[in-house]
Amino acid sequence: MKTDTFEITELATGRRFRCQPRQSLLKAMEQTGKCAIPVGCRGGGCGLCKVQICSGAFECGPMSKKHVNGEARCRGQVLACRVYPLSDLTFEYRPSDVPVMTQQQIQ
Ligand code: FES
Repeated sequence: MKTDTFEITELATGRRFRCQPRQSLLKAMEQTGKCAIPVGCRGGGCGLCKVQICSGAFECGPMSKKHVNGEARCRGQVLACRVYPLSDLTFEYRPSDVPVMTQQQIQ
């Protein structure tokens, strides 16, 4: 049976889930009820949901250049809340990529 959803695989765990066209990677992950990455603003601004896309096609919505510059984006380091898969896709979450909040940012 042909479906128009994409299969998303998280490499570290091997966990798979489906993503609808024009649905963000983060939203698809949250719908599984087992979102394995930190979530903040959901709008591409805080950088908490940064992941590494390892394979597959995707497009990006607006995201903070402070957290993802053009070079990083070209390497597939993107914000899950602003990534829209265009094919089956694999990704990896690297906790070391999570930005450290300064006291000033927390207040
Ligand atoms: S949740 Fe803030 S950038 Fe994705």
